[in-house]
Amino acid sequence: MEKEKVIIFDSTLRDGEQTPGAKLNPREKLKIAHQLARLNVDVIEAGFPISSPGDFRAVQQISREVKGPTIAALARTVKEDIDCAWDSVKDAKKPRIHVFLAASDIHMEKKLRKSPETCLQEAVQAVKYAKSLTADVEYSLEDATRAREEYIFKVVEAVIDAGATVVNIPDTVGYAVPEEFGGLIKKIKTKVPNADKVIISVHCHNDLGLAVMNSLSAVQNGARQVECNVNGIGERAGNAALEEIVLNMIIRKDYFPFKTDINLKEIYRTSRMVSKLTGIPIPVNKAVIGINAFAHSSGIHQDGVLKDKSTYEIINAELIGGQAAQMILTARSGRHAVRHELESMNYQLNDEDFEKFYLRFLELADKKKEVYREDLEALLIDISFAEPTYELEYLQTVSGTKTIPAAVVRLRKGEETFEQVSSGAGPIDAAYKAIDRITNITTRLENYNLRAVTRGMDALGEVSIKITHDDKNIIGRGVSTDIVEASVKAYLDSINKLINMLAHVNNNNNKEK
Ligand code: KIV
Ligand code: ZN
Repeated sequence: MEKEKVIIFDSTLRDGEQTPGAKLNPREKLKIAHQLARLNVDVIEAGFPISSPGDFRAVQQISREVKGPTIAALARTVKEDIDCAWDSVKDAKKPRIHVFLAASDIHMEKKLRKSPETCLQEAVQAVKYAKSLTADVEYSLEDATRAREEYIFKVVEAVIDAGATVVNIPDTVGYAVPEEFGGLIKKIKTKVPNADKVIISVHCHNDLGLAVMNSLSAVQNGARQVECNVNGIGERAGNAALEEIVLNMIIRKDYFPFKTDINLKEIYRTSRMVSKLTGIPIPVNKAVIGINAFAHSSGIHQDGVLKDKSTYEIINAELIGGQAAQMILTARSGRHAVRHELESMNYQLNDEDFEKFYLRFLELADKKKEVYREDLEALLIDISFAEPTYELEYLQTVSGTKTIPAAVVRLRKGEETFEQVSSGAGPIDAAYKAIDRITNITTRLENYNLRAVTRGMDALGEVSIKITHDDKNIIGRGVSTDIVEASVKAYLDSINKLINMLAHVNNNNNKEK
């Protein structure tokens, strides 16, 4: 049987932007709107145009430039709001005016100080007026979940008669529970005589953490539009998270046999973009898109996932355009996980070297708790698995006020010796250049430090340097009473570490070594 479609109405740019601290300028709103179109949402609620000239401009620009989704603008039931909303979306290919008014006694009495009858009349007039401007009109009964059911039925019937095409039932304060909310939708569908003429929509807030489940329950009971926001951002505790709603329909299709037109591969990118531009971070444990959602920490889980992902993963990160599962290496991680991580970074160690490496890894993990890829790389650099490749056999430098600094360097590598002469900006520079000629490795000197490690005129000097090669940073140290010799030793130390590390890079991918 063909699955029924659920319309995804994205309100990230309207309700999402109401998140405390999230303010988007028109350029940022446009950028997100283009991404929402790539995500293939059905409706973008681009803003509340009467709220500010900036928001009006943003909605107008989105309406003119973003192709694909319907572009909706929010309005209260007053003419000025509706005119403004219409002006902002009228250039869209598929414009929608979205009108709302309170439906609960609490809101009508305490906020609006109007009777239910007056509110009903206003709702009908507003819908009629919006309908005179455009065919697609949505009406929302604000705070519906705390409203009297009989009043809800009356308003829904009246606004449909007035021309609404979509009727939205918001759980404005996140008060509903799934069974109850699903029941309300079912009653609207069965008790309101003209309910079959429109799409019933839901809009759930997350004050009790039930926004997604309330939305899904509503869909199971006949709602065919879900209003939701990327990353679940929104007023107070936020709105139902778009990615969670959509993924539930994919992963638990046995339970939620509905489809959406969402382009799943764009979820990850959209989520990151919204977080970056709104400045609202994604909690690490956020369902579907938090960075820990695909990370495995315990040794048992890591081993299971390496044998077969399905052991501990129900969502494949690639499905939503994210990156494959990550291992968080800790002292609980076994050899299997550590070796796998090294191999995924392209390092191949023989069994003996790996044992040595694993022991050092455990020492580090004990101190550091979580070990990242950079730490593994630093460990690789630090451990010497073999004898130093190059040893200094002979060094002679000249320098002075009227001499061009120069150096003669002879290095031993196994049974062979290599000698080079070079000039330079100073004796150290000249010696480093001579070494480069011998080793044929290009590096950049990032840092140079000299300090006396003992006292007196004949103090030992210690040189520590940092060099870079591609994206690798390597520290080298050398000690001598002669600072030029200490500098050359430090350089050779770092070069030997680099050669050592490169020797473990998988040859298939790194021919250089
Ligand atoms: O939460 C709410 O009731 C709203 C309406 C404007 C739809 O955001
Ligand atoms: Zn809302």
